[in-house]
Amino acid sequence: MFRFLKPLLYQLEPEWVHEATLGVSRAVGSSRRLERLVEILYDFEDQRLAVELGPLSFPNPVGLAAGFDKNGVALSLLYALGFGAVEVGTVTPRPQPGNPKPRLFRLVEDQAIVNRMGFNNHGVEALVAQVQGRKFGRPLGVNLGKNKDTPNEQAAQDYCIGLEKAYEVGDYFTINISSPNTVGLRDLQSEESLVPLLKAILEHRQKLANRSGNKKPLWLKVAPDLSQEALTVVCQIALELRLDALVLTNTTLERPGLSSLNGLQSGGLSGKPLGPLSNQALDFAFGLTGGKLPLVGVGGIFSAQDAWAKLALGASLVQVYTGLIFEGPGLVRNIKQGLVERLNQQRAYGLPKRVVQSKGTV
Ligand SMILES: Cc1cc2nc3c(=O)[nH]c(=O)nc-3n(C[C@H](O)[C@H](O)[C@H](O)COP(=O)(O)O)c2cc1C
Repeated sequence: MFRFLKPLLYQLEPEWVHEATLGVSRAVGSSRRLERLVEILYDFEDQRLAVELGPLSFPNPVGLAAGFDKNGVALSLLYALGFGAVEVGTVTPRPQPGNPKPRLFRLVEDQAIVNRMGFNNHGVEALVAQVQGRKFGRPLGVNLGKNKDTPNEQAAQDYCIGLEKAYEVGDYFTINISSPNTVGLRDLQSEESLVPLLKAILEHRQKLANRSGNKKPLWLKVAPDLSQEALTVVCQIALELRLDALVLTNTTLERPGLSSLNGLQSGGLSGKPLGPLSNQALDFAFGLTGGKLPLVGVGGIFSAQDAWAKLALGASLVQVYTGLIFEGPGLVRNIKQGLVERLNQQRAYGLPKRVVQSKGTV
């Protein structure tokens, strides 16, 4: 059905289509019968796809990346599509409107998107109100950001507020310092900023863990545009401070060989052309960390083959966003089926694990 709808959807304004999709998903998800129907339609699981990461159990390695459902309004339907986890957000302490529209652009010829949304979201309290008391049976990640008008020197406070308010409802938390659409945010990836920022957040996590008796994982999401030197420093810090995972990557400011006119728009590029860049970063990060730091591979996944490539490069989990827009809701099941076919061909009992070749440099 998605194949027939696609040409029509391409005629419509992208952000409108996205909002309408969330609205329909929310409506479908609010009927237990319809939700069950979707579950049956997209049902596909296999024990061999299950991933254990710290305290979390993922029935499969395919998660929904942050930014698709920023406010957690369509979670029932998104889980029914078969994702192993869903990451909501980015949420900020206070609601904010984001950048002026238009701010979302399709690059059909390149199977890509450029966005400069700018953390439009209803605020962390609205997210908590959506999610509180609900059980999804699969991990829920909460991606945390800072408000636009919070200076970088006070960013730690914003992340700590987000963490504290959402601590009860999230299963893991991703510190997002890599969106290109909040001025100066990516500067937080530098060593001088990152160490004190993460120390403050980790200290706060410890307090929340002591209070609740539950230490929840903290992930860090980075940009694909970091130099090898800068990524080395980030990996070093992540290992030293014992972060629970590194998410590679957010969108890129690069414009690698695009044919669409919309490639000229400013903002972060995602989708097919991002794949090689984020794979390079993943490969490099695994080479440095040698399996000691779990990695989550994001960027340009449109098929089981793309997902397999990231797992083979050392990712423990993967996430998708733009692939879902171009391939439709069946993508999650198709990826899982393709991964299982590959396991069957290789007579393997589990997902690929990259072998550590050398001790690495970190
Ligand atoms: C429209 C749009 C909005 C996004 N918003 C966020 C966000 O709020 N927080 C975040 O960490 N990543 C955000 N992302 C980045 C995605 O989570 C993902 O890292 C990136 O798109 C690469 O994956 P993909 O090629 O599968 O889309 C957004 C991406 C898109 C296309």
